[in-house]
Amino acid sequence: MEKANLDWSNLDFSYRKTPYRYVANYKDGKWGKGEITTEDTIVMSECAGVLQYSQSIFEGLKAYTSKNGDIVTFRPDLNAERMIDSAKRLEIPAFPKEEFLKAVEETVKANAAYVPPYGTGASLYIRPFVFASGIVIGVKPSTEYQFRLFTTPVGPYFKGGAKPITICVSDFDRAAPNGTGQVKAGLNYAMSLHPYVTAHNNGFDENMFLDPATHTFVEETGGANFIFVTKDGKIVTPKSNSILPSITRRSIMYLAEHVLGMQVEERKVTLEEVKDFAECGLCGTAAVISPVGKIVDHGKEILIPAGMEKMGEVTQKLYDTLRGIQLGEIEGPDGWIHKIC
Ligand code: PLP
Ligand code: COI
Repeated sequence: MEKANLDWSNLDFSYRKTPYRYVANYKDGKWGKGEITTEDTIVMSECAGVLQYSQSIFEGLKAYTSKNGDIVTFRPDLNAERMIDSAKRLEIPAFPKEEFLKAVEETVKANAAYVPPYGTGASLYIRPFVFASGIVIGVKPSTEYQFRLFTTPVGPYFKGGAKPITICVSDFDRAAPNGTGQVKAGLNYAMSLHPYVTAHNNGFDENMFLDPATHTFVEETGGANFIFVTKDGKIVTPKSNSILPSITRRSIMYLAEHVLGMQVEERKVTLEEVKDFAECGLCGTAAVISPVGKIVDHGKEILIPAGMEKMGEVTQKLYDTLRGIQLGEIEGPDGWIHKIC
């Protein structure tokens, strides 16, 4: 199969249309049969639930070309399960796990020419989503939905790739104490846009959101969880029921403990103690592991000892292990790599 003619090593994180996507519709109380299509536009009522009351959820995962030439995805079963959790919270009918996995498989296979070659640092980002396509005017769940999954070849999420970034402590909340922060609802991201633009206008790459109830504990950024490394080499990640349970973070914590033999802790992390950590990184499908060099808390600079030049040593070890597994250079735990073709 001939690859598309793209400058693979210089891709950024943006949308590039690929030829095929997958669509399934929910109507009359059930999901219909899904299929591959080339149609990338959607026609719906002006009164569709997604347009009026933001009833939508999504996922994000990646396909890679591994060292031996296989096209693979990383733990897609967890994305399927998380989308079911998101659906429950938004009163959306769950899209079955098996159908989700079939959609990933068929769409990636159909767009194989757009899966970046091994060694380029790029990957094929996969975006499954469900939105309320039915008419809704009183505030209530729609009776019709569409599942869609498209793909787009991408490079690093943050400009500069593995260069440490600078973030600021946000005055805004991303989630409510008993809200939707723990699921992947489009509305969470709409909420984070004003804080994101504000942070950017002030010269920062991202926000550090604090817990919405007390503003004392570290939560996450707009699109990634935090991992910290203590001065004695322990891996610490914030525990909270209003952050997204990142699949990347769960995988890193497992690898740190079971493959690298490190000590790990998932616990509440106060903003106050961040100055005492040796390394800080953001982890997620898009972010992979992006190092944080500086955190600015209302004019007060917290300089992470790992510095602004490169990833800290421990973060690099975690990154190399995770990447190595995703790219088939290192054998991962059973069932983590899902071969597509
Ligand atoms: N937190 C938020 C708010 C996100 O949007 C994402 C991205 O999906 C993550 C964390 C990382 O999650 P994952 O590792 O499953 O991609
Ligand atoms: C991801 O990492 O997949 C995300 O969804 C983060 C962001 C692009 C929303």
